[in-house]
Amino acid sequence: MHPPSAEGHVNATDVFVSCSFGKQAVTKMSTKDKQKVYAQWSETYEQDVLDNDYVAWPICAEKIFAVMSNMASEENISRPFKLVDVGCGTGYLGTLVSDRLKSTDISAFLVGVDFSSEMLEKLATRSVMTS
Ligand SMILES: C[S@@+](CC[C@H](N)C(=O)[O-])C[C@H]1O[C@@H](n2cnc3c(N)ncnc32)[C@H](O)[C@@H]1O
Repeated sequence: MHPPSAEGHVNATDVFVSCSFGKQAVTKMSTKDKQKVYAQWSETYEQDVLDNDYVAWPICAEKIFAVMSNMASEENISRPFKLVDVGCGTGYLGTLVSDRLKSTDISAFLVGVDFSSEMLEKLATRSVMTS
């Protein structure tokens, strides 16, 4: 996986550790530089992640689904569910969640938020989530 670096000193592992677990590397960069990294990475981000068998996507989708299933049994929860994916990137996770809900009677409105307009352009090609 080779995400670009705004200043040539951030590698893929740094980006992933930082974004997934909120630690170091990218968090030390300025917001503008982070945006540059994600703008440049947006083109290959999803395929890079898929090529590297990133397990967090299916795990997260399954966990989100489990929470929604539990909540669905509570009568005082308004429907459809409203989910906000902060730092949604290309929206791949939203696609997995949406697919998981298809065989159920649970409906959800998914909104993606991201500071990279380039990532949001990729998201716009999907019909599962609005931004
Ligand atoms: C590693 S990607 C993960 C994308 C998506 N959540 C996924 O699982 O594929 C991190 C995303 O968070 C976005 N991001 C990082 N910092 C952000 C911030 N401060 N505000 C909004 N979006 C941010 C990036 O643009 C990028 O799309």
